[in-house]
Amino acid sequence: MDLKGKKVGIAMSGSFCTFDKIFKEMERLAEAGADIYPIFSDAAKQIASRFGTPEEYKKRAEEIAGRAPVMSIEGAEPIGPKGYLDVLAIVPCTGNTAAKLANGITDSPVLMAAKAHLRNNKPLVIFISTNDGLGMNLKNIGLLMNTKNIYFVPFGQDDWQKKPNSLVARADMLLPALEMALEHKQIQPLLLKH
Ligand SMILES: Cc1cc2nc3c(=O)[nH]c(=O)nc-3n(C[C@H](O)[C@H](O)[C@H](O)COP(=O)(O)O)c2cc1C
Repeated sequence: MDLKGKKVGIAMSGSFCTFDKIFKEMERLAEAGADIYPIFSDAAKQIASRFGTPEEYKKRAEEIAGRAPVMSIEGAEPIGPKGYLDVLAIVPCTGNTAAKLANGITDSPVLMAAKAHLRNNKPLVIFISTNDGLGMNLKNIGLLMNTKNIYFVPFGQDDWQKKPNSLVARADMLLPALEMALEHKQIQPLLLKH
C-alpha cells in the first residue's frame, strides 16, 4: 500500500549506530509523502555517544518530520484513544525494547506508543538491531514474530565473525516493509545476508 498520506510513527530506541541510516530512511519516507510522527525512547532522549547527541537527534527528527518527537509516556499514550497512526515502526528496536515489548512491559515512550497502537489492531513494524539477537533475545524475537499485527523488517547477521549473535535489519527494506505491513502482510524473504 502506498505510503503517501499515511500517518507513520517512527519510534526510535537506543541503537545509536543505526541512527544515521534511519534518518536517511525517514527522509525517503517524507519524500514518499508520509506524515511522520517521531517518538524517542528515554535512551534516545538522554544518551550522548560517539554517534551523536540527543540534541542533534531531536533537531534532525524535527526537521524531517516537521514536528517535535514525542519524548514522554504521557505524550505517547493518546496514540491509543485517538488512534491516529496508520502504522508504527520501532526503528531501530534495541534488544532491551524487544525484550520488554515481548513481555508486556510499558516503561518508555516507545513501548507506550507500541502498546497504545496495538490496542487499535494496527500494524507494528520492528527494525531489530541488537548484539544479542541470536543469544538472550532470540526467544523474545520469536515471541514478537508470532504476535498478531507485528511485522519485521528483513534482517540478518551483520558481522558473524566478530559478533556471532548480532542481528540487524536492512535499512533499505524499511519502506517496502511498511508498505506491506499496511496491508497486514509480512514482507519476504525475512532472513537476509548482509
Ligand atoms: C553507544 C551505544 C550504542 C548502543 N547500541 C545498541 C544497539 O545497537 N543495540 C542495542 O540493543 N542496544 C544498544 N545500546 C544499549 C541501549 O541503548 C540500552 O540497552 C538502552 O537501555 C536501551 O533503551 P531503549 O530500548 O529504551 O532505547 C547502545 C548503547 C550505547 C551507549
